[in-house]
Amino acid sequence: MSNFDNNPRNPSSAPRKFPYTLNRRWEVVDKLNSGGMGTVYMARDLNLSTLSNQKKQCVVKELKDDHLNCGSDKEMAQEFFLREVHVLADLDHQNIVRVLDQFREDDKYYLVMEYVEGQNLHEMLMKRGEPFDEKTVIKWAITICNVLKYLHTHNPPVIYRDLKPSNIMINTNDQVKLVDFGIARPFESEEDNTQVVSQGYSPPEQYWGHATTRSDIYALGATMHFLLTGQDPLALTVSEPKKLNSAISDHINEIVMRATQQEASARYPGAEYIKNDLEYVPPEPPSTKGKPLVVVLSSIAAIGMFLGGLIVLGKLQDQQETRTQEVKSIHELRLDEREKKLAEQEKKLKQIQKLISEEMTSTKDGGTTPNATQDASNDDSGESTIPRELTDEAALTDTALN
Ligand SMILES: Nc1ncnc2c1ncn2[C@@H]1O[C@H](COP(=O)(O)OP(=O)(O)OP(=O)(O)O)[C@@H](O)[C@H]1O
Ligand SMILES: [Mg+2]
Repeated sequence: MSNFDNNPRNPSSAPRKFPYTLNRRWEVVDKLNSGGMGTVYMARDLNLSTLSNQKKQCVVKELKDDHLNCGSDKEMAQEFFLREVHVLADLDHQNIVRVLDQFREDDKYYLVMEYVEGQNLHEMLMKRGEPFDEKTVIKWAITICNVLKYLHTHNPPVIYRDLKPSNIMINTNDQVKLVDFGIARPFESEEDNTQVVSQGYSPPEQYWGHATTRSDIYALGATMHFLLTGQDPLALTVSEPKKLNSAISDHINEIVMRATQQEASARYPGAEYIKNDLEYVPPEPPSTKGKPLVVVLSSIAAIGMFLGGLIVLGKLQDQQETRTQEVKSIHELRLDEREKKLAEQEKKLKQIQKLISEEMTSTKDGGTTPNATQDASNDDSGESTIPRELTDEAALTDTALN
């Protein structure tokens, strides 16, 4: 370490020349980024002299000087910084940045971490200048759900408290890494009064210092809003990304809305619940394009078509209803209820088919028996088109519903 580096008279605010060494091990080579609490530097581990430069790479986060200059703020900043060190040191997850060292030198606090080669999600969106597509956001959000589940089920549970795009990095292997555990802390009690918020991303209860695991769910919803719209969510508001980006599906819009409810009890109860909804792919309503036109040969056929159409419409509406329920509470979906509904629809359809057969039988001069009409439905002749169309339509709808 050079004299210059160690000189206590060196004013703490003066920039230092690169490279310089910290704690006799970490060679700081460049400035990487700067946040509200700290400055992040690129560094090298001098202990790993035999390894390639790339393998020696790491990051040194220095607690900002301005936090250290005034009484209670200084103490709070130091407390948060030390807490980050302790929280991180206790965690081991592939999507959480690994901590390598922590120390205090020349009245400054440092944290050494694994280097994440990549960008944070805020930078990424700003650079591309447009929101991310839904599929990509869902993929990242599912990974974050896994991390939140890990944190929330840790012993003791850890509340991240600062989930937002600038604290989520995507490395060059497209892997998510959470950085910045500055205000994360083990959950002690709901009366734990730490009031640190990120405007737009923190839920109402965090303003009163009552963060719980559901506060992280809110922040995830708010983060999704930013990624899907390119705009920060409004503070203390239920996020509705579809209002800003009409390309967003109702399914995702409702997930974000549920996650960002102002009342914590109205949000998803845990990360696994939002993950379930994110993984769910709502069925596409069956397309009516390209269906052959029915040649209406008689008034009975017209009635039959009309009735058949009503049934199909009813089925589509039921399907739509089911989809909405699933979005609201997919994990509570009871499959047997759905099957019951389908069976009822089947019954109705059969009744209609029977009705049409009977009508046809009575219209055609008494020589045609009901059985003969049913057989004729499998025939390719013009007369048999009507019942067959109805059967085909019912089959098509059933396939889509299944
Ligand atoms: N391990 C790392 N590897 C690479 N870049 C990192 C790493 N840690 C942080 N960064 C970058 O530095 C930025 C600031 O880091 P960090 O969020 O930890 O600082 P902060 O001052 O606590 O931020 P905040 O403004 O949220 O308080 C991050 O947004 C990220 O881009
Ligand atoms: Mg940060």
